[in-house]
Amino acid sequence: MSFTIVEEATPRLNRSELAVPGSRTELFEKAAKSAVDVVFLDLEDAVAPDDKPRARKNVIQAINDVDWGSKVLSVRINGLDTPYMYRDVVDVLEQAGERLDVIMIPKVGTAADVYAVDMLVTQIEAAKGRKKRIGFELIIESALGMANVDAVAGASKRNESLHFGVADYAASIKARTTNIGGPNVEYGVLTDPTEDDPTRHYHWGDMWHYALSRMVIAARSNGLRPIDGPFGDFSDAEGYKAQARRAAVLGCEGKWAIHPSQVALANDVFTPSEAEIAKARRVIAAMEQAFKEGKGAVSLDGRLIDIASIRQAEALVAKADRIATR
Ligand code: COA
Ligand code: MG
Repeated sequence: MSFTIVEEATPRLNRSELAVPGSRTELFEKAAKSAVDVVFLDLEDAVAPDDKPRARKNVIQAINDVDWGSKVLSVRINGLDTPYMYRDVVDVLEQAGERLDVIMIPKVGTAADVYAVDMLVTQIEAAKGRKKRIGFELIIESALGMANVDAVAGASKRNESLHFGVADYAASIKARTTNIGGPNVEYGVLTDPTEDDPTRHYHWGDMWHYALSRMVIAARSNGLRPIDGPFGDFSDAEGYKAQARRAAVLGCEGKWAIHPSQVALANDVFTPSEAEIAKARRVIAAMEQAFKEGKGAVSLDGRLIDIASIRQAEALVAKADRIATR
């Protein structure tokens, strides 16, 4: 281990995160009653410019009046380059009660962006005597944000999670794709013929592999949760699940849902299976026994387990407990 200890952000269940436009009040109760872990009420891109003031009022009222149960509640504010962001922060934090957990900052480009919002939030919390410290969810969705992702991740004690905003990211890097998430037929490799197999095969690749993985590293090295962003085709459940699974394999803890039908899919993929949980409990038990016997590494089912295995197992069991008590 390094002498530097990575402090984990406030732990929260974040398997699924549902986007709810702040202008569509009829969706608020439905989101509150859904099985989603995190709801984000959107003031940014799902709300038209003329609708911003009304959406802000709707969102404040919903934070105060709707029963959100045990869900994590978030508001996505507008970007720092717009004339809306300061009022989003001021109005929401001055007028909404303590139920709000986090705010989501879109299109973060530099550590200073986070610093600026932190300054504003800190003043309002102090002035209004707010008791619960508001956390930050940051969307990495531009070339600048990705270039500065480590500094961004470490920019504030309020930071809790990094989110990969695939559509804006594609636009920012001028990628040749118009999908919102998902694979692209032009991103692949053509195999060469070999003696064993003279046929040339085309293998699709994941054009987002590097970006997502890069964001995961920045998040984890700062104790934050990495979360995969949207998958636009909400009629394609299999496509969504494939995207979610590969994000889980890379280290992500959850994925956005832009339609309620995607919530169950995300919860399913990001919930550890009974078998995984049972295995984790066995690893912990085997390691406890090993420690008693003065050993640092032992075998379980013919495979090596060591101190790293126990850490993974403990994280998994902690998550399973959080899901069970939800
Ligand atoms: N939250 C809660 N409930 C939602 C919802 C959401 N985001 N989106 C749809 N619903 C509800 C609908 O009201 C409908 O309810 P009903 O069965 O009681 O009538 C049900 O889920 C099925 O919805 P459907 O008719 O298939 O969708 P729609 O045409 O109303 O809306 C979208 C489709 C994509 C426009 C809508 O889901 C949406 O706005 N999603 C969020 C998009 C967003 O915020 N994007 C920004 C982040 S990328
Ligand atoms: Mg975006």
